Amino acid sequence: MKMKTPIKKLNKFLHGGDYNPDQWLDCPEILKQDIELMKKAHVNCVSLGIFSWATLEPEEGNYQFDWLEEIINNLYKEEIYTILATPTAGMPKWLTEKYEEVRQVRENGVRNLSGGRHNFCYTSPIMREKARAIDTALAKKFGNHPGVILWHISNEMGGNGNDASCHCPLCQAAFREWLKNKYKTLDSLNHAWWTKFWSHTYTSWDQIHSPVSNGVKSLHGLELDWRRFITAQTVDFYKKECEAVKEYSKNIPVTTNMMEFFTPLDYFKFKDSVDIVSWDSYTSWHESKDDVDLAIRTAASHNIMRAIKKQAFLLMESTPSLTNWKHINTLKRPKMHMLSSMQAVAHGSNSVQYFQWRKSRGASEKFHGAVIDHYGKDDTRVFKDVTELGIRLESLTEMIYKTINKPKVAIIFDWENMWAMNDAQGPNNIGMKYIDTILNHYKPFWEMGIDVDIIDMEQEIDNYKLVIAPMTYMMKEQFGERVKEFVSNGGCFVSSYWSGIVNETDLCFLGGFPGIIGDVVGIRSEEIDAINEYYPNSILYKNKSYEVKDLCDLIHLQSAKAEGYYEKDFYRGMPALTRNKYGKGIAYYIAARASEEFNKDFYSDLVNEIGVEKNINGNLPYGVTVTKRCGEDSDFLFVQNFNSKTVLINLDREYEIAEDGISVSDKLELKSYDCVILKDKKDII
Ligand code: GLA
Ligand code: ZN
Repeated sequence: MKMKTPIKKLNKFLHGGDYNPDQWLDCPEILKQDIELMKKAHVNCVSLGIFSWATLEPEEGNYQFDWLEEIINNLYKEEIYTILATPTAGMPKWLTEKYEEVRQVRENGVRNLSGGRHNFCYTSPIMREKARAIDTALAKKFGNHPGVILWHISNEMGGNGNDASCHCPLCQAAFREWLKNKYKTLDSLNHAWWTKFWSHTYTSWDQIHSPVSNGVKSLHGLELDWRRFITAQTVDFYKKECEAVKEYSKNIPVTTNMMEFFTPLDYFKFKDSVDIVSWDSYTSWHESKDDVDLAIRTAASHNIMRAIKKQAFLLMESTPSLTNWKHINTLKRPKMHMLSSMQAVAHGSNSVQYFQWRKSRGASEKFHGAVIDHYGKDDTRVFKDVTELGIRLESLTEMIYKTINKPKVAIIFDWENMWAMNDAQGPNNIGMKYIDTILNHYKPFWEMGIDVDIIDMEQEIDNYKLVIAPMTYMMKEQFGERVKEFVSNGGCFVSSYWSGIVNETDLCFLGGFPGIIGDVVGIRSEEIDAINEYYPNSILYKNKSYEVKDLCDLIHLQSAKAEGYYEKDFYRGMPALTRNKYGKGIAYYIAARASEEFNKDFYSDLVNEIGVEKNINGNLPYGVTVTKRCGEDSDFLFVQNFNSKTVLINLDREYEIAEDGISVSDKLELKSYDCVILKDKKDII
């Protein structure tokens, strides 16, 4: 077979998904039919071997790769490429039975039995050695195969419920080493964790144990470092797998599939070690009558994934129809498959991949949606939906593949900040609603059709016009410095209540909140009130009253001017929204959790004030958004209608419908769940 450069082969929209032929090796007619049907469905890429360790290495050191080779070859002959997985997400019995250290220990100190998935100890030297051995063998065999275009390292790392952590003795020892490296001395650790509280002072490194409910849970610095350690250890495990495959497979990029706002792992820490970001999206479409809020959450997740590397990403998994693990598994209504898939592309995905190609016959995923059902033929609604999308992606590749969204607005979402805020006791222990708050600030931009990057506090911010940092409870010093520079140089910054409270080890700032950004926003926060239904409040902004809830910050003006005031209670008349000029820029402070309507009005005023352009000038109908992928000669506007009814969009100028070249101006009609792509040619001067 003739060799091509593998990275070049990623040069098209991928369409396909997880393919588990090892479940069907005794049915050659099914394997043959799979490839025929893939061609029919315009599938050009599958992910292979994700859970195949027991078939690839049925006993220690005995590698059985012939079946895989035959499949990769047969696919390649039909121009279907392979994303090849390392199989570490599911461990074979010989491994877990012979070497118990590879199995995770739960928080209660009990070691897991064999079975399940995503449950290996990422510290265990034996697990690392065995993973390296199979990964190396796979890379030697397939690392230069012309059909293999990408390495899929493990699968949804840490995805074993919402606790990705292993508490085994090896992890405890590694944690202590990690801490020694970070703090150097016990004195500095004791200070950082404020251990004099309840006599928690450590007098020897060996006394340190992971936070567990029957031990220490009250030291937030410990909690925070443990979570950081888990991310660090997972990234380290991931990198070791990358090194193993790259040794024999230098030209093939690597990825690992992520899971949106997955609490246990700080995905931004994978930034430098993934060549391309990929993620698995399982939105519960139709869980209520209105899909708009779900569309907004999904859009935000896509934006995080794109922003990790500021480049196109891959939608690695999605369901072509339904899932089987939610309380209620509703089918995607007609056209939702097209819309939800185009939404990914609209936000910068260069693929639409599924879990999975063919439904399993047994075990827990036998009722999860798949392209091919147990029925086994192609005359199904799902197959038709998938084929239609495959054809559309093929026709769009050349035009759109190299384009990418280039937002001028960033919202800060930081995992470490979320961990710290959730661990802290007070001011509201029912829930600080950090993710909801991020989404509430994002929503107006989605509604206005303005692209947004969602980034953490460690990323650069100079290229944005507007940076919004809601609830930056933990104010990282470097971020604070960046904000100062950003605003001095003319940027616009929006901060909110519960910001600048603690440093990176969760110690409160002394001398006034919001700490390091106090001068930028020009206010001082004195107290915060967690309000309930008996103490309602509202703020007055531009003569309109807006309800506030949950948290109200009682602030004093320093250099800032008030633009909104509390209307009730003992702090009636105190500032609730402020604006401060700082250098060449401006900084706003929103002191209370205000209603969606406030965010909508406030951000609409703000984008006008600072000149952030909407992708289509004017107001969009409810449930409609526009994202823009920018290219060299043309930009492409993805106009998406998440309503189950037809809407009319007012256009600000003439565009061409990208897929048929027809010109449109004035009005664009979008039927229910339509996504229309408009081409906007750049003026050549
Ligand atoms: C995850 C996994 C897949 C599969 C799907 C089902 O995303 O990576 O292996 O279990 O969920 O939705
Ligand atoms: Zn462990």
